[in-house]
Amino acid sequence: MSVNENEFKPKIVAFCCNWCSYSGADLAGTNRLEYPAEVKIVRVPCSCRINPIFILKAFQRGADGVIICGCHPGDCHYMTGNYHTRRRMTLLFSMLDYLGVEKERTRVEWVSAAEGARFVDVMNSFVSDITRLGRCRRLEDLRCKEN
Ligand code: FES
Repeated sequence: MSVNENEFKPKIVAFCCNWCSYSGADLAGTNRLEYPAEVKIVRVPCSCRINPIFILKAFQRGADGVIICGCHPGDCHYMTGNYHTRRRMTLLFSMLDYLGVEKERTRVEWVSAAEGARFVDVMNSFVSDITRLGRCRRLEDLRCKEN
């Protein structure tokens, strides 16, 4: 048996906007492209729906990395939603970095509905970055731990 049972498997939360990135993930599935099972997708109507509290909560509940995927700039179905996301997340991610949650643990990516392969590439690269960084305990709340 060559699989190491103690191998670190990061917990990744991926917020995906319904109109582009979630459809991109769906396309990846339709084309039978695989991305790591550690990625748990949360579908939101638009990337600007993501309140910074959602990200803090994810880290509090044991996430090792959080990625936000939305439509490409100019393609947001609510016109300027992703511009707000970009601005808001830049501030939040620098604040998290200041608090000790490394910048590499958070990411904003634009993935369109036609980019199933790109979705897979983005997730693979994010998961390998987080695996390299290891567990994130900085904001973890022990009261939220399962068992
Ligand atoms: Fe996709 Fe706004 S609808 S980012």
